[in-house]
Amino acid sequence: MGLLLQTPRARLRRLVRRSGTSPLSGRTVLVTGASSGIGEATARAAAARGAHVLLVARRADDLARVRADVEAAGGRATAHPCDLTDGDAVDDLVAKVLVEHGPVDYLVNNAGRSIRRSLSLSYDRFHDVERTIAINYLAPVRLTLGLLPAMREQRFGHVVNILSWGVQMKAPKFSAYLGSKSALDTWSRIAGRETYADNVTFTNMRFGLVRTPMVVPTESFEDRRALTAEQAADRVVRALEDRPVVVNVPFGSIGEQLNILAPRLSDALMSRFDRMVPDSKAASEKVRPTS
Ligand SMILES: NC(=O)c1ccc[n+]([C@@H]2O[C@H](COP(=O)([O-])OP(=O)(O)OC[C@H]3O[C@@H](n4cnc5c(N)ncnc54)[C@H](OP(=O)(O)O)[C@@H]3O)[C@@H](O)[C@H]2O)c1
Repeated sequence: MGLLLQTPRARLRRLVRRSGTSPLSGRTVLVTGASSGIGEATARAAAARGAHVLLVARRADDLARVRADVEAAGGRATAHPCDLTDGDAVDDLVAKVLVEHGPVDYLVNNAGRSIRRSLSLSYDRFHDVERTIAINYLAPVRLTLGLLPAMREQRFGHVVNILSWGVQMKAPKFSAYLGSKSALDTWSRIAGRETYADNVTFTNMRFGLVRTPMVVPTESFEDRRALTAEQAADRVVRALEDRPVVVNVPFGSIGEQLNILAPRLSDALMSRFDRMVPDSKAASEKVRPTS
């Protein structure tokens, strides 16, 4: 399936990679959410393949830690602390990056926030929709729009979005989160059609569960099979190198087909699943968060 989605150029890139030279070598790779989890592991993995990694997240101390580790391992990294939900800060980041490093070759839109909360606990929580949209959709779109002109001008660029298999499954209790992830999935698919002629492409990665700080508050995920952040990062790096249109997990693809072929059956199964797995303790707490 993956091979069918690859262009001849992607197959050639795969061959070059197997021969030992990564297409990331000597390139600039900007990773958002590089202070933790999948983003941190991706930054380390891309740097190990010879890329200059630009690390973006809010926690400057953690970015400095990752940068120091990358440099100690002989790699190249620069930290750019930024709150990506602040539009002016994103515009400043874009300007600074372009002046200091020139066009970004690869962008990994990874920074994100997940919320798992049922509708019945969400009627007075419109801010859940606002804060997921802010970091999972508006932020990556603003950043990508800022970096795209230089990519198109140099006639090379690739953007990888870290999404979720939930966009295919339409998983209950994730309406705010998956609404925002689906918006980025669709926006990028359309943007990629307009930039294709300039050799600027997009990959939508729909991940299953990955064991990172993000999933800690959800008790029901504790016993589930999950990738490590490093395993997830290997897949992200492969997507950067091979530039496929999408990366799915099999269960997500099955869920997507069921949604198309038998939508009411899919609703019935998901409704059952929804009732079997209750809200987490964290989701049931009614304290309004500050961020
Ligand atoms: N873990 C999973 O099972 C799973 C599955 C599918 C998809 N994903 C997606 O994978 C991505 C990475 O998540 P993760 O699992 O690695 O969780 P994580 O360890 O909690 O990482 C989230 C990252 O996003 C950054 N971030 C959050 N808000 C930000 C903001 N306003 N500005 C800048 N950076 C911000 C955080 O950095 P700071 O706090 O330093 O800002 C952190 O580096 C997310 O988009 C998530 O939706 C995760």
